[in-house]
Amino acid sequence: MLIIPTSSGQKLSDDLGRELNAKVADKTVKRFPDGELYVRINEEISGHDVAVVGNTSMDADIIEMLLTLNAVREASPDELTVVFPYFGYSRQHRVYNPGEAISSKVFTQSLASSADRMYVVDIHDEETLGYSPVPFENISIIKSIAKHFNSYGIDYVVSPDDGGSVRAEEISRVLGVKTFYLNKVRVDSRTVRMEVPDVELKGKKVLLVDDIISTGGTIMKSASIMREKGATNVYISAVHGIFTNNSAARIKDAADEVAVTDTIQSEYSTISIAEEVAERLRGGL
Ligand code: R5P
Repeated sequence: MLIIPTSSGQKLSDDLGRELNAKVADKTVKRFPDGELYVRINEEISGHDVAVVGNTSMDADIIEMLLTLNAVREASPDELTVVFPYFGYSRQHRVYNPGEAISSKVFTQSLASSADRMYVVDIHDEETLGYSPVPFENISIIKSIAKHFNSYGIDYVVSPDDGGSVRAEEISRVLGVKTFYLNKVRVDSRTVRMEVPDVELKGKKVLLVDDIISTGGTIMKSASIMREKGATNVYISAVHGIFTNNSAARIKDAADEVAVTDTIQSEYSTISIAEEVAERLRGGL
């Protein structure tokens, strides 16, 4: 198999190359004087199984991904698999107000038009998978997060909302500890109230896990509730650390440690997903 990274997928591609004993392709990515992007894969592609790896979070990532997929398709691979460590634009997966675009649908369909099979890591809502005309599967990162916190003496794995409760439950099962979730109640468009179940947390060590940390508002509020309830140690984790609005700097004081996966590179992306993704690719290719 030949692994072809886009710029945002370089680290995962290098890790997957080691895990799968596969070559990571050399490529040329540059901008024309007018700002348009140029992509060329400097490898023999015809007759090979190819996995293209990269995110779609920033607009520029999407352009690079579309050009990379077309470059590969034009060169006639045997099978073209795409791995999206972070699939951006997936939070709008349906029309909430008349006149809106379904961003997750338009990008799924555009990207799938060049692919034979696609994988995504912890997509925000699995409804998006159904928009793809080719097989599109979610890879939920559980073992890698559990492994990172295995020696921390965690008492509870907590999800900040019910949407993430299955993830928290699965991680708690691997760690052999208890779990619960907070109930996020939207009071109005700007205010959210968090309801906490009646659990004794005095002297306990809590691992908070979410799918995404964006502004950090949800996870920081949850961490402060855990402290108010007497938890001695609060650890924060998530699959995707976007850290907008300077939240990377603010989140430091909210927890004993912040550790997210490396789907998006940041100072906190200390948990590698390569093993779990490689496992899936071995089964799928
Ligand atoms: C919400 O449904 C998600 O699971 C996350 O809780 C949310 O995206 C986090 O966003 P923020 O960091 O901006 O509070």
